[in-house]
Amino acid sequence: MTAFDRVLQEVDERCREQHIPMLGQEKAEFLANLVQTAQPTSIVECGTAIGYSGLWMATELKSAGQGRLITVEIDTGRAHEARENFRRANVKDWIDSRIGDAAEVLQTIRDPVDFLLLDNNYSNYFPCFRAIESQLTDGATVVADNVGIGAAGMADYLNHVRSHYESRTHWFETDLPWVKRDAMEVTIYRKPH
Ligand SMILES: C[S@@+](CC[C@H](N)C(=O)[O-])C[C@H]1O[C@@H](n2cnc3c(N)ncnc32)[C@H](O)[C@@H]1O
Repeated sequence: MTAFDRVLQEVDERCREQHIPMLGQEKAEFLANLVQTAQPTSIVECGTAIGYSGLWMATELKSAGQGRLITVEIDTGRAHEARENFRRANVKDWIDSRIGDAAEVLQTIRDPVDFLLLDNNYSNYFPCFRAIESQLTDGATVVADNVGIGAAGMADYLNHVRSHYESRTHWFETDLPWVKRDAMEVTIYRKPH
């Protein structure tokens, strides 16, 4: 087992034991495929937790030999734990871990962003999307988690992306202790003319 696989397994187990939210393997594999297809140069993630989804995305960047993940977490303890996990998994050089409220941190990003993952409490999705919108590239992939269980709490975001862009809902059976069926929304962002 590689160092990466060992850390991923430990993070998975710790999330299940401590009820720390994470994507789970089914959604993470789907996300990794999206990253492979998009070949992004810059990914932004809202909601690091202890790094489960970050590990999946960073290993794709590392395999491709290009790109960077900026991941934002409001909980300092979780962010520090994630950094340690990234270091132990040998992917830290691909990740810029920031601590703070994502909607505020995103406003400080000046580089173009071609992949966005929203996973930081439903009511934050639309403010985060708005905060980074000016930096999103034409054709950027925008992924929102918990669209099945959290649709009501992110109705402003979902109404916006579904009425303005090509947007699809993907359903998953999961084996997480806290949810057995949920969805992700994948939107292809288009710059206004
Ligand atoms: C669902 S978890 C993220 C799971 C992670 N993406 C994974 O799959 O491993 C949501 C995280 O968002 C964080 N969070 C909540 N509000 C936030 C905010 N305003 N800015 C940044 N992070 C926030 C929470 O502390 C929590 O760790």
